[in-house]
Amino acid sequence: MNEKTKIKSIGVLCSGGDSPGMNCAIRAVVRTGVGLGLNIYGIRRGFQGILEGDIVKMDASSVGNIIQHGGTILKTSRCLDFYDPATRKEAFNILKRKKIDALVVIGGDGSFNGAYRLHEEHGIPIAGIPGTIDNDITGTDYTVGFDTAVQTAVEAVDKIRDTASSHARTFIVEVMGRQSSAIALHVGVCTGAENIILPSKDRQDLNIEQISADINRGIARGKNSSIIIAAEGETPGLCHRVQKELMSEYNLQAHICILGHIQRGGNPSSLDRFLASRMGYIAIDSLVSGLKCFATCFIQGEVNPTPLEGCLEKRVEYRPYYEELAKKLSI
Ligand code: F6P
Repeated sequence: MNEKTKIKSIGVLCSGGDSPGMNCAIRAVVRTGVGLGLNIYGIRRGFQGILEGDIVKMDASSVGNIIQHGGTILKTSRCLDFYDPATRKEAFNILKRKKIDALVVIGGDGSFNGAYRLHEEHGIPIAGIPGTIDNDITGTDYTVGFDTAVQTAVEAVDKIRDTASSHARTFIVEVMGRQSSAIALHVGVCTGAENIILPSKDRQDLNIEQISADINRGIARGKNSSIIIAAEGETPGLCHRVQKELMSEYNLQAHICILGHIQRGGNPSSLDRFLASRMGYIAIDSLVSGLKCFATCFIQGEVNPTPLEGCLEKRVEYRPYYEELAKKLSI
């Protein structure tokens, strides 16, 4: 048992969309916990796994050879039932029966909200590790998986640029982010995109005239290809609408490429591995030091535990500055 707290056993789960680096975080949680003499339990498929008692004891070798792999060995799910207080009570009772004293939740803002309520209602200590490709959690500059997802999309757009330029074509490339602009903005800047369409423009104020003017300006100065990065947004089909209107209104032909879930997979980048390792360590260290409800946040180059309450909102990364930057550099 830990000297400072009564914590003997900690459960760890992943929840929501998976993100590259989750395995590194699990590894860090398990190895730090085992190193301190704690019992660490892996909970499969997120909050759903608590309800189904899908819980396994982990040791140092359970997390061997996973640091480089995308996805999550614990699997994940979006457990909508967890919005119900009665379900959370049931989950708490199961954890109590299994003698799990605290929980590490690796996931996004939805998962953090569920975990926060579980703590508020039943007092179980919670550590949140920000894990989502969307980079949209308030209180942390980066979430585990974002860097890898951006790199994956950038590599894909580079390839599209090769063929776009060979054939003198315009491409609309859809990246992930239903509500988050972060991937679109970063990929747009890093690939020299001529236009970036953000979910916030979903889509009443979508300015096709401006997009066509930008393409034509490029053509006039000798550019033969254009890339438009579009965040998927909440309403599917945006790319097709833009494609259709560019053709019908401005006689401009555009091809579509939807990158989709490839952005969620793949080996985590070194930044994601580093962040996840640091966050996993700090999650356990802070729980045994007596912190009760926090997230491991990366702010100005440092990972520190900060109150989970401040990390429940979606961070809206609508930074006109990035959009402006991409525009200014792609004239
Ligand atoms: O996990 C975040 C995310 O990948 C978003 O970028 C995307 O909008 C959403 O999840 C897709 O979720 P699902 O895989 O459940 O369709």
